Amino acid sequence: FGKEVQLFDSVESTQNIARAAAEEGAPEGTLVIAEQQLNGRGRMGRGWVSPRGKGVWMSMVLRPSLPIYFAPQLTLLTAVALCRSLKRITALPIGIKWPNDLLIEGKKISGILLESAAEDERLTFVIAGIGISVNLEEDDYPVELLEKATSLRIAGGKKLERIDVITDFLQEWEQLYFLYQEQGFSPIVTLWEALSVSLGKPARLITPQGDIVGVPIGLDETGAIRIQLEDGSVKPVFSAEMGEPL
Ligand code: BTN
Repeated sequence: FGKEVQLFDSVESTQNIARAAAEEGAPEGTLVIAEQQLNGRGRMGRGWVSPRGKGVWMSMVLRPSLPIYFAPQLTLLTAVALCRSLKRITALPIGIKWPNDLLIEGKKISGILLESAAEDERLTFVIAGIGISVNLEEDDYPVELLEKATSLRIAGGKKLERIDVITDFLQEWEQLYFLYQEQGFSPIVTLWEALSVSLGKPARLITPQGDIVGVPIGLDETGAIRIQLEDGSVKPVFSAEMGEPL
């Protein structure tokens, strides 16, 4: 990863550029990095605050040889890699909120957005978008986000070099991607569960089919979160928005 790097000053979203590159045949490991995004995208159609020079705004091209239903596993893998790397660099208490938000004391410092393309039910490429709020200051955020978002700088009181953050993350990511290709998803499940801040806490999951209230108790082998319901049964949930702990 990172043998081919496309660096930009200002873009709408690195996701769009990486997707266009992948469609033109860019190899696995191609990175698209921007100083600033004018229209950074988050999950669930939200935006992503990406001010100039203050964070890591990066998209990676992946070409895993996998059926499409494995894509959520790659999201969880990416969250584990990022969490392990950022914890190592900052020594801050960073945890993963299902599926892939990284939080410090309940506030988000990083987000992951996976977008994929498939043919005949198999992934042709995946664009893994990574946003790390490295050096943002409080006035970089709209007021309504301050309650929910922070940066490594705000939380740790120190400015970091973005290149160090990227380099360490890529090393960790490559190791876990290799492990995943060699041994499958189960070692990633163990690592994810150890870093999760969602397990064991009653929560409301907002799904397109309605809300589910229960206690997340772990991941299953597909990457779905296992929710223990009030009647004791366990339900796997593949995609949802997780509300605040109840
Ligand atoms: C989320 O938590 O909602 C996901 C945020 C993902 C943000 C990154 S920044 C680099 C890449 N380009 C985008 O437009 N989004 C992702």
